[in-house]
Amino acid sequence: MSKHGSMNEGKLVTSQSVTIRDMKESDLEEILAIEKVSFADAWSRKLFKETLSFPHSVNFVLQGATGAVLGYINFYLIAEEGHLLNLAIHPDWRNKGLATQVLNDAIDFLKQKHAAHFFLEVREGNLEAIRLYRKFGFEHIGRRKRYYVETNEDALVMHLDCGS
Ligand SMILES: CC(C)(COP(=O)(O)OP(=O)(O)OC[C@H]1O[C@@H](n2cnc3c(N)ncnc32)[C@H](O)[C@@H]1OP(=O)(O)O)[C@@H](O)C(=O)NCCC(=O)NCCS
Repeated sequence: MSKHGSMNEGKLVTSQSVTIRDMKESDLEEILAIEKVSFADAWSRKLFKETLSFPHSVNFVLQGATGAVLGYINFYLIAEEGHLLNLAIHPDWRNKGLATQVLNDAIDFLKQKHAAHFFLEVREGNLEAIRLYRKFGFEHIGRRKRYYVETNEDALVMHLDCGS
């Protein structure tokens, strides 16, 4: 699955093309660098490798025109449920529509695989991410108390119903 060119919502990254493709083990060096600056509880290389080898995982990267990894997304697809596990965009490339693009493509891909419900957990203080998910129609359905032990923050559980 790949896509070139323009962003959603009228946002333009640059005139460069951005491709969405499957994540590979050889991407992990660049992914881990983005992961470390994005999360207090960053995933390890081992966790990415386990996720990549899990048959029910769906893993994409956004690749810029120079070949650099600009961001990535990981989902599990279990029966009709898509579970968002991880999503991050390189700090230099944020707020340009890239997360919107990769989340949109991943949800479309999973819907073709018969996903009808999507779930995710997000830090209650992560307002950028919460706005992104609300834009897609995710709704707050629950709270996990002190889910993020590193920062002692609650997780909001969000759900998107795509069933007809
Ligand atoms: C959250 C994150 C993935 C968003 O990526 P992004 O590429 O910057 O997002 P987009 O440019 O596609 O913007 C999508 C929406 O997010 C929200 N958003 C993005 N940046 C924002 C900011 N700085 N302030 C407020 N809202 C913001 C907006 O609702 C925006 O849509 P809009 O401009 O149409 O209102 C990115 O900030 C990131 O990697 N953060 C660190 C990792 C993380 O928190 N991941 C999510 C874990 S649950």
